[in-house]
Amino acid sequence: MSTPTISPLPVKERKKVSIRSFQFKKRRSEPITMLTAYDYATASAIDQAGIDSILVGDSLGMVVLGYENTLPVTMSDMLHHCKAVARGAKTPLLIGDMPFMSYQVSVEEAVRNAGRFLQEAGMDAIKLEGGRERVDAIRAIVAAGIPVMGHLGLTPQSIHQLGGFRAQGKTVAAAQRLLEDAKLLEEAGCFAVVLEAIPPRLAQQISAELRIPTIGIGAGVGCDGQVLVTHDLLGLFDRFTPKFVKKYANLHAAMIAAFEGYREDVLARSFPAEEHTNPMKDETWDQINA
Ligand code: KIV
Repeated sequence: MSTPTISPLPVKERKKVSIRSFQFKKRRSEPITMLTAYDYATASAIDQAGIDSILVGDSLGMVVLGYENTLPVTMSDMLHHCKAVARGAKTPLLIGDMPFMSYQVSVEEAVRNAGRFLQEAGMDAIKLEGGRERVDAIRAIVAAGIPVMGHLGLTPQSIHQLGGFRAQGKTVAAAQRLLEDAKLLEEAGCFAVVLEAIPPRLAQQISAELRIPTIGIGAGVGCDGQVLVTHDLLGLFDRFTPKFVKKYANLHAAMIAAFEGYREDVLARSFPAEEHTNPMKDETWDQINA
């Protein structure tokens, strides 16, 4: 097992991460790091922190657009935010998440929509949810030259079928089905697969049996990499926090404190101060008032 670099090199000295880098890391047992982003500033900060990959997730719908779930997110929402992320991040592998109904109707539509993420929005790869029922679409997208990341376990676009945001793979039949699905995704040509909210020992076994890397979220440390929704990690999304999230900051509270400070300064007329203004020369002022 190799020791990963802890301090990231400056962006200019780092090589662009590719799907081959993912395979290389799996072979060397080096954990793959991934976070979500939906805008330029966050993507740029994630790049500077040396994270391997950015997923422009359809979690956009919940943490940025304020929907109850991810189902209302459209292709045009996704492409708009993917473009902003691509402008902000140069090194990470950029993965665009295909929204609900952009790949389920027909294989042809799936390929066409997948292509838009690369052709119009600067992404390097796409992600889609589902197991055996998605194999035809995955094969066709991969055949078009587009790298595909799979997503198994808790697949939020199926919450109505799953009965809510709940952990998956807890019975013998469900666990066996997940393992089979993971192998089918690998055979269909996925370069990686997200495992969401499944028991750690199952995720570890899937990771051991697949040649492609697994990226876990709520699936324990035995996966080949980890992903979190950045708004959860930063404590920016205050509606609920899944059990599997570790909060590295509380930016929601920091934002409220900053906004309160601004409000108080404006009410007290202590902002803007002189240093926040552009003065005019006395002679110009005198001429105006002559
Ligand atoms: O949409 C998203 O952010 C995701 C991750 C949680 C894997 O699918």
